[in-house]
Amino acid sequence: MAEYKRLRIVRTIAEFRQLLKEWRRKDETIGFVPTMGYLHEGHLSLIHQANELADHTVASVFVNPRQFGPNEDYAVYPRNEERDAHLLDDAGCEILFAPTVDEMYPDGGVTKVSVPEIGDILVGHYRPGFFTGVATVVTKLLLQSLPDVAVFGEKDYQQLMVIKRMVKDLDIPVRIEGAPTGREEDGLAMSSRNTYLTPEERKVAPVLHQTIAQVAEKFRAGERPPELIQWAKNQLLDAGFDKVDYLEIRDAEDLAPVYDANRPARVLVAAWLGKPRLIDNVPV
Ligand code: PAF
Repeated sequence: MAEYKRLRIVRTIAEFRQLLKEWRRKDETIGFVPTMGYLHEGHLSLIHQANELADHTVASVFVNPRQFGPNEDYAVYPRNEERDAHLLDDAGCEILFAPTVDEMYPDGGVTKVSVPEIGDILVGHYRPGFFTGVATVVTKLLLQSLPDVAVFGEKDYQQLMVIKRMVKDLDIPVRIEGAPTGREEDGLAMSSRNTYLTPEERKVAPVLHQTIAQVAEKFRAGERPPELIQWAKNQLLDAGFDKVDYLEIRDAEDLAPVYDANRPARVLVAAWLGKPRLIDNVPV
C-alpha cells in the first residue's frame, strides 16, 4: 500500500461527497481541479492555484470516455494513477477522486449537457461531441463536489470558455478560474499527449507556440487576416507539421472572429504533428 502525507484516494461519489460535506459544515472552502491524469507541471500549477484560492484542494483523475470520438485515443490515453497520486500529495492536494467508468455512468446515463455555438466551432468542429462529453462530465463532477472554485488550464482555452458559459447558463454555484498554460523551456505547451511525439517531432513542436506568438505580435502591429493567417499556416507546414486544422484570431470571450485590435482577443491553433494534434493559444 502506498503511503501519502495527506492524500486520500476515493472511488465512490458517496465517499467523495461525505468527506467534502465535513469541510463545508465547518465553513471551510474547497478548490477543485478536474483532470484526466498523467499529470505534468501544468496540472500541478492548477493545484497550486487552487491551494491559494481555497482552504482545501481536491482533484479528480477520470479519463472520460464520453469526450473521445470513435477513432480517438481513449484506449491508449496515457494513465499512471500511482504516480499521479504521489504528485498530487506532494503538491498539497488532499483528496483524489478516481472513479471507475461504471461509478460515473451506471446504466449508461442518457442525459447530456451541450453548449452549442461556442462548443460547435474550432475544436468542436473537428471533434464533434467533444464539448458535450466535457460539459456533461464537468457538470457531474461539479455537482458531486460542489466546490467553491474550480481551476482549469488556459491551455484548453475553448474548454475554459465553454465551461464558464455552461456554469453561467445553468446557475451552477461555483467560481471558474483559468490558470496560465504551463510551458517547456522551449515554449511547447505541456500536454499529456506530448508523450506521443517522436524525438524528431518534439524538436519541431515548439514552432507552434513561436508561430502564434508571432501572429499576436504582427496583429498588434497592424497585419490582418487572411494574409497573416496564411503566412502562419505556411510557417507550420514548412517546419514539418502535417496539417493545420485551424489557426484563428478570435474574441477572448465568445470566440467570434475579430478583425480589429480594439478588444481582447486570442490566437488559437490546432495542428497535427505525427500522431498527436497539438493545440495552443496566446493572448493578442
Ligand atoms: O481538460 C481535461 O483534462 C478534461 O477535458 C476535463 C476537464 C478533466 C474533463 O474530462
